[in-house]
Amino acid sequence: MPTGPEQTQGPEIAMPIVVVVGGQWGDEGKGRIVDLLARKARVVARYSAGNNAGHTIINDKGEFKLHLVPAGIFYREKTCLIGNGVAVDPEVLLQEVDQLEERGIDTSRLIVSDHAQVIMPWHRELDRLEELSRGRSAIGTTGKGVGPCFTDKVARRGIRVGDLLRREDLLARGKAALDYHNRVITRVYDADALDLDDCLENYVEYGKRLEPYIGDVQVPIIQAKRRGDHVLLEGAQGSLLDLDHGTYPYVTSSVPSSSSSGAALGVGIGPTDISRVVGVFKSYCTRVGNGPFPTELFDDMATLLRDHGKEDGRGEYGTTTGRPRRIGWFDAVAARYSVRFNGMSAVALTRLDVLDELPSIQICTAYELDGETVDTVPARESDVNRVRPVYEELPGWQTPTTHVRNFDDLPPQAQAFIRRVEELIECPVDLISVGPEREQAIIVNPIF
Ligand code: GDP
Ligand code: IMO
Ligand code: MG
Repeated sequence: MPTGPEQTQGPEIAMPIVVVVGGQWGDEGKGRIVDLLARKARVVARYSAGNNAGHTIINDKGEFKLHLVPAGIFYREKTCLIGNGVAVDPEVLLQEVDQLEERGIDTSRLIVSDHAQVIMPWHRELDRLEELSRGRSAIGTTGKGVGPCFTDKVARRGIRVGDLLRREDLLARGKAALDYHNRVITRVYDADALDLDDCLENYVEYGKRLEPYIGDVQVPIIQAKRRGDHVLLEGAQGSLLDLDHGTYPYVTSSVPSSSSSGAALGVGIGPTDISRVVGVFKSYCTRVGNGPFPTELFDDMATLLRDHGKEDGRGEYGTTTGRPRRIGWFDAVAARYSVRFNGMSAVALTRLDVLDELPSIQICTAYELDGETVDTVPARESDVNRVRPVYEELPGWQTPTTHVRNFDDLPPQAQAFIRRVEELIECPVDLISVGPEREQAIIVNPIF
């Protein structure tokens, strides 16, 4: 049995593939954490979702909002991959690549999996019509067509990035898919049918422009692993939006978590290839879109937290849609659940500085449901809507933390807050972010 430090070191060297996954409802600061950790990685890969994601990165190159390109792109020598598990809107990807190039960022090391699904115009139209038809029960999707694209993938009706390279394949698969969807669009939603030629007009061109980027993503990961180079798998969205484990049906249509190796599946490797799962959590909670949110705040505190940094365009407003984010206290019940189903080995806690001015801070330690104490997230949406959070109040520190780079230099109240979070969620906080910029971080234990 491996017991000593030498033995526990072993697997870290043999399997240096680390997943960075959102622990809450998205927007935890995954892009910012990946940008920091990528310094030591050789390969950075997105494994799930599509351009419903919006990752903000602020570094020596400027401020960027990425929807598809992995956050490792700012380092010259890193290979960046868009995995088979991603839904790719080629127009959005090409725009993102163009914008990066215009700002002097070299994108030649980007590879897009030929297995990845393509978002077609009918997916965006279906996203709109489905949301309209849900009325008051609308999910509040980002409207980017990601859900209908993944639905087509499962229905074996999807078009993959590799199909963009062969006109006949694109036309044949496009025709089959649109014939089906036009029946739904006209008969179920009573809307106007889409025209195939209009829909496909630009896609042949997108294929030509994307050709230099299209390839295999598995091989670069396996080669990096064999060389002992670090690989980062960049999650999108948050675990509580996970199709299986999230607050269903108010979830996204893919598997953002590393549970059941969603991350491994999304880049074509095996579950045993992954050595560590790092969960990113905010020091409080946010959610954009509809669905249950037990610790949600509706008072001045919500406004205060939402508008922190607003004057610099850094408040809690969606990176992809600009919608105001719903705000709540840190929910340790939901966080612990997320730690467990992701198999997280470490946590990165972000936006600690946003709490700097508060005289006191609340943490939800349990839920009450029908007079009973509940210590995990109930499966039924109607139950999650009814739970009453039980709070523990901790004193605030009312001191700026953005300049702090060592845990011991944090105010004692901030240290106590972090220690309590660790205890409640049953996972060590190895990284603390005290600002949106690359260097504004405290590394408690190196991730690599
Ligand atoms: P992602 O989708 O998980 O990558 O997160 P988003 O980029 O959508 O939202 C996170 C926001 O928080 C961005 O505006 C980041 O620049 C910002 N951010 C990340 N970490 C910190 C931090 O520690 N402090 C502050 N003040 N902002 C942060
Ligand atoms: P990042 O990677 C926050 C939410 C939407 C909606 C639900 C379903 O930036 O953390 P969808 O368009 O996926 O069908 O919408 O999921 N959602 C996100 N919320 N951050 C994200 O990504 C999200 N991606 C999807 O708001 O509630
Ligand atoms: Mg985001």
